[in-house]
Amino acid sequence: MKFPRLPGLTGYDLAVDLGTVNTLVHVGGKGIVLNEPSVIAIELRNGVRKIKAVGDEAKLMLGKTPEGVRAIRPLRDGVIADIDIAEQMIRHFVEKALGGVGLRHRANKIVLAVPSGATMVERRAIRDATAAAGASEVHLIEEPMAAAIGAGLPVKEPVGALVVDIGGGTTEVAVLSLRGLAYSGSVRVGGDKMDEAIMAHIRRHHNLMIGEITAERVKHVIGRATRPDDAGERMTVKGRDLMTGRPSEIEITEAQIAEALRESVAQIVGAVMNALEQTPPELSADIIDEGITLTGGGALLGRLGEALHDATGLHVKIADNPLICVALGAGTALDDESFAGVLTRA
Ligand SMILES: Nc1ncnc2c1ncn2[C@@H]1O[C@H](COP(=O)(O)OP(=O)(O)OP(=O)(O)O)[C@@H](O)[C@H]1O
Ligand SMILES: [Mg+2]
Repeated sequence: MKFPRLPGLTGYDLAVDLGTVNTLVHVGGKGIVLNEPSVIAIELRNGVRKIKAVGDEAKLMLGKTPEGVRAIRPLRDGVIADIDIAEQMIRHFVEKALGGVGLRHRANKIVLAVPSGATMVERRAIRDATAAAGASEVHLIEEPMAAAIGAGLPVKEPVGALVVDIGGGTTEVAVLSLRGLAYSGSVRVGGDKMDEAIMAHIRRHHNLMIGEITAERVKHVIGRATRPDDAGERMTVKGRDLMTGRPSEIEITEAQIAEALRESVAQIVGAVMNALEQTPPELSADIIDEGITLTGGGALLGRLGEALHDATGLHVKIADNPLICVALGAGTALDDESFAGVLTRA
């Protein structure tokens, strides 16, 4: 006889997508309950670090903190840059997702999505931080596998599927078949590099320093992966003039931003071409039928699908809700026993 599981006694099962830009938490039986920026604001006073804000509230402080307070993104380049701070951030998000602390709000299993390119050392660091945040069992799932499950690709069947997850720190390209990765590759290019390229372009061509929040907004509004025939849409941006030191504003065009993003886009296209070249022929045949599926926030960059289609000749599809695919897929893998095998005990 099978007893119903009582979450109040055994704890909840959590899936965590600890992204460089956004962290999402999926709770078994409930769905995604938390989706916040991976940012933490810390105050340093007399050598003691104190958390001022985490997530949404901390992101509002990025680039605007008062003296003594720093808003930090502990995962900046796709890896944990500061393990101590990352651990505090994970702990905060896990507690918030569970609705408090205490016995009734315990995490039982936590499954974490890890970039397929993460080294053993990085995997261990992320696992330890999660265990310290209060999980009794930590499992790992490869990020592209989670993305593919979350996007609804047929990963349990013997057909090849190509998924490209474009996050803030990395772009992961994987060919999946029969619950496994037939190929995986990762390049350290994503939304952050695009924002940096926009900042550098505007500094170089207009002598204007802009902040990263402004650069990200420019990318969302007029960012395109291919150049328009004319100047395209226009947008006003504000920052600090490097010559006069004064606040200043300029107008930039879609064509200029496409130029700024060219290198990042080329690297993403290159990573996909690389994956196609290394895919076993039977799976290549499937990919002709199934096409390429894009996940991650970078999938929303204007005309990226077209750029990839032009380069590969393949059909390109953007997943529904690309920003939540990894968390959804990791949660599904944990909830649904038929996905057993895609999780590894850490
Ligand atoms: N409409 C849009 N156009 C272009 N980029 C976008 C858009 N919406 C979101 N993004 C970008 O997507 C990125 C965040 O995506 P996502 O949440 O998938 O990253 P992440 O999972 O935190 O990072 P990683 O997987 O590399 O650790 C940000 O750089 C954000 O600016
Ligand atoms: Mg991600």
